[in-house]
Amino acid sequence: MAKIGILGGTFHPIHNGHLYIAKQAMKAFDFDELWIMPAGIPPHKRLSGDISRFERLEMCQAAVSEMKGVRVISDEIFQTTKSYTYETLQRFHARYPENSFYFIIGEDSLDSFAHWVHPEIIASLATIVVAVRSQHSIDDPVFLQKLRDTENAFHGKFEAIPTEFMDISSTRLRELLSEGKSIKEFIPEGAWRYIQEHRLYEATMEANDTLRKQIQKDLKAQLKHSRYEHTLGVTYTACALAMRYNYPLTEARFAGLLHDWGKFLSDEEQLHFCRKHHIPVTEAEEKAPYLLHAKIGAYVAEHTYNITSKDVLHAILVHTTGCPNMNLLDKILFTADYIEPNRKEAPRLEDIRAMAFADLDMAVLMILEDSIAYIEQSNRPMDPTTLETYEYYKTYLAERGRK
Ligand SMILES: [Fe+2]
Ligand SMILES: [Fe+2]
Repeated sequence: MAKIGILGGTFHPIHNGHLYIAKQAMKAFDFDELWIMPAGIPPHKRLSGDISRFERLEMCQAAVSEMKGVRVISDEIFQTTKSYTYETLQRFHARYPENSFYFIIGEDSLDSFAHWVHPEIIASLATIVVAVRSQHSIDDPVFLQKLRDTENAFHGKFEAIPTEFMDISSTRLRELLSEGKSIKEFIPEGAWRYIQEHRLYEATMEANDTLRKQIQKDLKAQLKHSRYEHTLGVTYTACALAMRYNYPLTEARFAGLLHDWGKFLSDEEQLHFCRKHHIPVTEAEEKAPYLLHAKIGAYVAEHTYNITSKDVLHAILVHTTGCPNMNLLDKILFTADYIEPNRKEAPRLEDIRAMAFADLDMAVLMILEDSIAYIEQSNRPMDPTTLETYEYYKTYLAERGRK
């Protein structure tokens, strides 16, 4: 009887984190073989980067070619309908009834396991191996209870193994590739060679470049000159901050370019645009329709330019008022909008510019303080979100200071 470990995933691309999990599982359970099983993608759904199934399969094969006991299996990758784990395991079981299977899942998947299709069949056909961040997390009583509860609920066997946390994700690697950067240090050598030889992922890079040029052309045609210059200033500054805080440049760039797209529309036109596209308008926006250009920018980014990054869309959406607990790109865009090189008027501008590269949260708070003072002074309507955001960052930084 052979013991087989199975590690599924999109592997787009396969990286060192995957192989680390594979190695840890092999060590813990002494598998006779570990199977890397790339997932099938329904034919109507294309993977970004335009990489074919064959290429994804061969890239995985190249990645593990020197790993003893590891092989890549193509059971799911060539399926044209959605492949369900329970069906795959049933097939394996019928084909190799003498083998025992260990199906490896991530810690997050334990939470959603009950919602998989036929979890009880999966649990009856394989031991479920949960790859957990560290031994420390495994010893956590809350986690252990969850593991035992799931085990009891599905009458299966659930085990946990520690896999040292590796800060790599395929999404982040694709982002780096789309920027023309090397991901050599994050992926197995064979996979890197394969990507280079077959010039994989270059399509993403070219597509991003074409889209950026198109957006820039459109903006130049419709924004007035000073607004266009401001947009470029925000884009460059957002990129500089993204470099400082290690954020993907492509996303920072698109967020910067599109944040003020709606600014060429008059107040009336902005209200009309929102009504036409069923974008909800708040009371504060009714009074100050210029605030709507943020929602319009996010809408256009998604629907006209097909930007799918949730972070980009969110950053554009909150760039005028901010919001409590902003994510990194939100803060980058919010700050870049205020400090970009064409800005001259704001008080404390030099201080905020310096602060932005030292402590982004503090820069955000300073911008909010000064913006609120300006809005009050000039008797302009205040969006309550601006005040909420200010309160949030004031408290957050005060608490941080006490630690
Ligand atoms: Fe704006
Ligand atoms: Fe702006």
